[in-house]
Amino acid sequence: MAILVTGGAGYIGSHTCVELLNVGEEIVIVDNYSNSKPKALERIREITKKDFKFYEVDILDKESLEKVFSENNITEVIHFAGSKAVGESVAKPLMYYHNNITGTLVLCEVMAKYNVKKLIFSSSATVYGMPKTVPITEDFPLSTTNPYGTTKLMIERILEDLIVADPNWSIAILRYFNPVGAHKSGLIGEDPSGIPNNLMPYISQVGSGKLKCLQVFGNDYDTPDGTGVRDYIHVVDLSLGHLKAIEIVRKQIGIEYFNLGTGKGYSVLDMVKAYEKATGKEIPYVIAPRRPGDIGQCYADPTKAKEKLGWEATHTLEEMCEDTARWQSMNPNGYED
Ligand code: NAD
Ligand code: UFG
Repeated sequence: MAILVTGGAGYIGSHTCVELLNVGEEIVIVDNYSNSKPKALERIREITKKDFKFYEVDILDKESLEKVFSENNITEVIHFAGSKAVGESVAKPLMYYHNNITGTLVLCEVMAKYNVKKLIFSSSATVYGMPKTVPITEDFPLSTTNPYGTTKLMIERILEDLIVADPNWSIAILRYFNPVGAHKSGLIGEDPSGIPNNLMPYISQVGSGKLKCLQVFGNDYDTPDGTGVRDYIHVVDLSLGHLKAIEIVRKQIGIEYFNLGTGKGYSVLDMVKAYEKATGKEIPYVIAPRRPGDIGQCYADPTKAKEKLGWEATHTLEEMCEDTARWQSMNPNGYED
């Protein structure tokens, strides 16, 4: 019996695989390396001292995906595989709809064929669009502002329809807030290609001297210091949320939605200060115009995950900064040698 992890070589996938192996789960990983490197898998083995099967397969390739199911006794699927860059999704909408939506359709078809109906899906806080208030609960109205977000929302709708048609499915939809940090070993972490779009990888590359200066996108939001506020969550906490989600999908839950966040909002300047304090490195910054499409504040009400999953985030902001910095200093070029 094994859990199939699609996108398991990626940032959140690799950390989740480590936690799954640590608790003795058997896993099979599928990834096409479109946004990851084989070295991540070597590192998972190094950290856990455990082995697993890996298939270099594109989930759009139904025949190859079927082979994975026919050769293994898959009992549940954690589905991370997809494209995730907001800006790129605006430039290449068809690519995003194809990879994320068709990829999920193919996966679900193959799962149904092999009678595997327990699924955990990586959704995003982006499905809340521009929330009117914070903190955000799971029943807030849903909307999107870019093609990436629309793929996540459409997949959520597709999975709802699937369960209406066949109640034997058991699906947990996890809406992640802002994952940051890295494994304590410094061996796995986020490895963005090119110049990072997201705040934490950008700050860490300024901290290491690779980039000169952070641009703070806007200081006129309706927030305590005017800069954007987000719910940053340590990637290991996020990964542990998947272990809890596996337990509940095994119990046949229908379809359930969970916010995975800490419930605390930090501003861009809070993050700069926290990183400087945790690492002793100075982060030069300039105030720049707002980034189009950005929202002022976004943070979770994680009560449902606490009550129904028995999960809550425990890592501090200091640990998020320290672990990011350790990964950055041990791997200045990510997984490249
Ligand atoms: P990632 O890009 O590091 O990992 C995704 C993995 O999927 C990569 O290893 C990539 O090579 C693989 N992949 C992509 N398309 C594939 C395909 N067609 N077939 C096989 N493999 C494929 O991203 P991540 O940050 O680990 O995110 C994982 C999931 O969580 C994604 O679905 C993402 O949209 C979602 N999510 C991420 C964030 C975030 O900020 N990181 C926030 C909310 C939701
Ligand atoms: N920011 C800067 N400078 C930068 C980068 C970011 O000031 O160089 C600011 C942003 O304006 C925002 C905050 O830092 O206020 C966080 O920005 P990120 O790009 O790190 O994260 P977002 O909240 O914009 O988006 C991320 C993912 C989305 C996902 C969303 C919710 O990129 O895919 O979190 O999970 F949908």
